[in-house]
Amino acid sequence: MHTSVSFSQFSDLARAADPIFTRHIQPVDDVLEINRTKNDLLILIEYLLSRMDRFQTGDRVSVQVRRASGLNFGYTPYGVKEALDPFFTENGLIPVVQQADSVVSIYLAFNRAYIGISKPYENLSDWPGGMIRLQKAENQTSRSRFKLEEACLVFDIRLSEYSSALDLGAAPGGWSSYLLDQGLHVTAVDTGELEPALLNHPNLIFCKTNVSDTMFGPDAFEVLTCDMSWDPMHTAKLVSKHLYSLKKRGIAVITIKLMHKKIRKTIDDFVRVLEPDLTCVSIKQLFHNRDEVTAFFRKT
Ligand SMILES: C[S@@+](CC[C@H](N)C(=O)[O-])C[C@H]1O[C@@H](n2cnc3c(N)ncnc32)[C@H](O)[C@@H]1O
Repeated sequence: MHTSVSFSQFSDLARAADPIFTRHIQPVDDVLEINRTKNDLLILIEYLLSRMDRFQTGDRVSVQVRRASGLNFGYTPYGVKEALDPFFTENGLIPVVQQADSVVSIYLAFNRAYIGISKPYENLSDWPGGMIRLQKAENQTSRSRFKLEEACLVFDIRLSEYSSALDLGAAPGGWSSYLLDQGLHVTAVDTGELEPALLNHPNLIFCKTNVSDTMFGPDAFEVLTCDMSWDPMHTAKLVSKHLYSLKKRGIAVITIKLMHKKIRKTIDDFVRVLEPDLTCVSIKQLFHNRDEVTAFFRKT
């Protein structure tokens, strides 16, 4: 996309807009001719040699490479990093994967490389394409756990600052296990079964029942999570029934299933049902979300 503003200004606008569906952007400072052979690596090194003014000595630099699908290349994305890292070291820079000062983003297409240099925060995510890769926890059986883990990273939620959570639609237990691992006491509600290994956890109470049939005390929890994967309006109404159990300034992380065509309306209607009690902080389609988005609320 060509814009009349600089990438840095564009990024400021994008971050202020807090987009739901855009996880990652990268600048294109230049377009290089390539032929998908190892010779491309020399072209990239030569280019970066001409752009050394963009770095300060001692900068931590990461290289993020993505390729157009369906094309053969004489090297892998990792091969690009392997070729560039020694070049960075020779020139007084520190090659890193995460927590970089600068990111060199390279998108490889049929006969062109789209290359740009930026600060990680300017790209909206410091993961290439916003594709956060999380490590599987020991004994992790459900991929759902990654959704809550990613939500905490993206929304900057420090669960260890809280002590109690209500997890609605908890089975088989990915989110509950993540909450327990962060040191919270968890009350999990589901009509289905939790992983047997979780049931003996001393900080877990499991209510095997319908969310609509449960009631808890006022201000009983500091965190409410809900991943019921059900009709959004029903979910919002069920969650709102439980909000008196969420303490003031408590937080809620809720997935909104996008079952209908009118996505914007679905999200707006969902938020409207909860807004009397909750303030919506942010909504994102996370890398680990499929046909859904994840909303982060705070109780006011
Ligand atoms: C996507 S799964 C949840 C996965 C879970 N977050 C995890 O990490 O393992 C959705 C769950 O919501 C439960 N569920 C949906 N509606 C429910 C309701 N009204 N009452 C109780 N459980 C419900 C389903 O039984 C199902 O286990």
